[in-house]
Amino acid sequence: MTQQNKTLGEFIINKQSEFKYSSGELTRLINSIRLAGKIVNHEVNKAGLVDILGTAGEENIQGEDQQKLDVYANEVFIKNLVNREIVCGIASEEEDDFIAIQGNNKKNENKYVVLMDPLDGSSNIDVNVSVGTIFSIYRRITPVGTPVTIEDFLQPGKNQVAAGYIVYGTSTMIVYSTGHGVNGFTLNPAIGTYYLSHPNMQFPDKGFIYSVNEGNYVHFPKGVKEYIKYCQEEEDDRPYTSRYIGSLVSDFHRNMIKGGIYFYPSTSKSPNGKLRLLYECNPMAFLAERAGGKASDGFNRILDIKPTELHQRVPFFCGNKDMVETLESFMKKNE
Ligand code: AHG
Ligand code: MN
Ligand code: MN
Repeated sequence: MTQQNKTLGEFIINKQSEFKYSSGELTRLINSIRLAGKIVNHEVNKAGLVDILGTAGEENIQGEDQQKLDVYANEVFIKNLVNREIVCGIASEEEDDFIAIQGNNKKNENKYVVLMDPLDGSSNIDVNVSVGTIFSIYRRITPVGTPVTIEDFLQPGKNQVAAGYIVYGTSTMIVYSTGHGVNGFTLNPAIGTYYLSHPNMQFPDKGFIYSVNEGNYVHFPKGVKEYIKYCQEEEDDRPYTSRYIGSLVSDFHRNMIKGGIYFYPSTSKSPNGKLRLLYECNPMAFLAERAGGKASDGFNRILDIKPTELHQRVPFFCGNKDMVETLESFMKKNE
C-alpha cells in the first residue's frame, strides 16, 4: 500500500503503536474529532440551501428549527466529546466559560482538555467561501479524577500535546500534529473516509504571499505599515502576492502549502488584535512550528505566552520563518 492511500484510521492505529506507554486516550480523542468534523462538514455543505430549508431561528419545511452554523458546530463537537467521555474539560470560543466533564457513573479518569474554535471564518458561510474548525489539546495540570479548573486551560501553547484544524473547502481536509510531523488527510465524501493526502507538511523554503486585512492599514502600528510597504517594494523577489480570504484556517492552509505570512496585528481600536490566543493562535502556532514555520506576537514567540484569561486576544504573525523574522525586525526598529 502506498502512503497516499492510507486512511486516517489506519494512520492513527500505526501511530498508536509508536507510543509505547500510551493508553490510547489521545487516539480515541482524535477519532472523536474526526467524526464530529464529518458531521459538521455535512451541515456546512448544505448551507447554500438555507433559503430553501429555512434560515437560523426559523423552522425549515420539515418543521425542524434551524440553527446558526457556528452554534451547531459548537454543539456537535461538545456532544461528541462529552458522550464519548473522552476528555475532562472543554473550552470553546462559543462558550463564556469552560465546561468540566464528570463521568457518567464512574469517576472521570481522562487526562486531556480540548480547546476549540468550532467554526472559524463563519461570516464567509453566507458567500460560499471556505470555513474551518480549529482544535487544541493539553494534558490537564490538576489531578486526574478531580473536576478541572481554569488552570488546566490557561497553559502556554508550548504545552500542547496535539493541535489541528479541519478545513471545509473545495475538499474537506483534517490537518493535525501530535508533536512530530504535520499530516493532512482529505475526505472522500462518497464513502466518508479521510485519506492521507499531505504527509509531513512543511512550509516551502521561501514564501511570496502576505495575508492581512489591509483595509485596517491606517490603524496598524508603524512596524507593520513598514513591513507591508516592504512586501510591496520592487526589489529581489518582491513585490509579494497579496491573498486574504478572511478565514484564518484557509489562509494558513494556503500559506503553509505555497509559502507565506498571515498576520492580524494590533490596531489603534483593538490593541490586542482580534484573534484568540487559546482557540486560534496557539493551535496554528503549534502547527506552524512543526512545519518549519514561526508564530509571533510581533516580539515574542506565541507558544511562550502564559495566558491570563480564556478569551484573551493577541496580535498574530505566522508563516515562513524568515518572513516572520523580517516582520519582527521592523517591529523592533519601531518599538
Ligand atoms: P471567527 O469566525 O471564528 O470569529 O474568526 C474569524 C477570524 C479569522 O478567521 C479571520 O482571519 C479574521 O477573523 C477575519 O477578520 P477581519 O474580517 O477583521 O479581517
Ligand atoms: Mn475564528
Ligand atoms: Mn468561530
